[in-house]
Amino acid sequence: MTADLTGTVGGPTIPFHLIDPAVHPDPDACDTWRHLREEQPVVRCETGNGGPGFWAVTRYRDIAAVYRDTARLSSEQGNMLGTLLTGGDSAGGQMLVVTDPPRHTAVRRMLMGAFSARAMAPVVDGVRTATRSLVAGLVEAGGGDFVADVAAQIPLVAICELLAVPPSDRAAMLEMTMAALGADGSQESQEEAAQAQQEILLYYAGLLPGRRKAPGEDIVSLLATEEADGARLSDAEVLLNCYNIIIGGDETTRLSSAGAALALMEHPEQWERLRKEEELLDPAVEEVLRWTTPVTHIGRTATVDIELRDRRITAGSIVTLWNISANRDAEIFEDPYRFDISRTPNRHLTLGHGPHFCLGGPLARVELRVMLEELRGQVGELEPAGPVERMASSFLTGVSRLPVRCSAGS
Ligand code: HEM
Repeated sequence: MTADLTGTVGGPTIPFHLIDPAVHPDPDACDTWRHLREEQPVVRCETGNGGPGFWAVTRYRDIAAVYRDTARLSSEQGNMLGTLLTGGDSAGGQMLVVTDPPRHTAVRRMLMGAFSARAMAPVVDGVRTATRSLVAGLVEAGGGDFVADVAAQIPLVAICELLAVPPSDRAAMLEMTMAALGADGSQESQEEAAQAQQEILLYYAGLLPGRRKAPGEDIVSLLATEEADGARLSDAEVLLNCYNIIIGGDETTRLSSAGAALALMEHPEQWERLRKEEELLDPAVEEVLRWTTPVTHIGRTATVDIELRDRRITAGSIVTLWNISANRDAEIFEDPYRFDISRTPNRHLTLGHGPHFCLGGPLARVELRVMLEELRGQVGELEPAGPVERMASSFLTGVSRLPVRCSAGS
């Protein structure tokens, strides 16, 4: 991958298939990002099949500026490269993350209430109880697959609490979510993903009438009964926003949690520090978020012609912001390839930036913090016990299987 790219240094475009899922688990990709940041920070990428092509932005400051510029860079055509290259997102203008201001501002304001510290208190309690017992189970078994046994369960508990999904439906929800986001680029997996997305929407459609009749404190009830811009949301908006929360909060947090365990095993001195120094919990959460960066990129569409560095991006172009590159930008982060749980400041872009900054960010942080607390409280030795599997996707990155051995802490 890197060799191909090096052959085209200085050219106006690169034949670099950032859309190829196989690129992202490749350790050499680090060199590719470093190279792009240094040599071609705003670069045109051709997809090679007569498709529209796209721009890739790889430096932190440029990416942050584009995130803030919702006036000239729209989310409504979609925010994932795969979707943008294949005709756009049909949920544009109806689902928060792919809606532009002013509608975005009104719906976001309405949803903010559901993420306030007060509203989140029962969710946090549920997360704590579940995490404590999941980690205890892992220790008792002497290890297991950290992804399946711990990391996949925590966000699911959190989201199902937020949306008040009955416990009996939760395992099916996890399966549908993984299928909906885990497409590896093949035709078959794209079809499976589309089907899983439909199943999630149908599931919430089934919950909706009951929540309208007897609303509770959950987000489905809030979306179904509150007003934005003086009117209730349409059924389609309610369902798509439920979808946004489950899809936005499930796999992402799972990948960060699993990545945390892997990083701590790969850096035993950091694990020792975490066990000894409780005050490192908060900075450790931020470093885990930076280090893992589960959402590789976010996409936008230019609504007018734009100059970015020396490049002219014409109206209608797809612009991709590579968070995984921004979070290793040496202009911002000292020694960016070092995993350091005491790193401060640590203003990573893992949760995005600007008006679309991740709404579930505080929840993701709580989930990670509780998991690290339980690991340091209950686990002594934590070590790899078999080959790690990585997911192959151009949008999400991280580990999908992580066999570990562990012992009880003293
Ligand atoms: C937005 C990443 C956890 C719900 C975003 C964005 C990113 C992101 C990069 C910005 C999208 C854009 O600018 O187009 C992550 C990561 C997470 C995480 C890496 C975990 C480590 C969560 C959780 C939830 C959630 C736990 C909910 C339970 C949302 C929603 C938005 C969003 C609703 C849309 C916000 C808006 O458009 O105003 N997330 N997220 N996310 N996220 Fe998260």
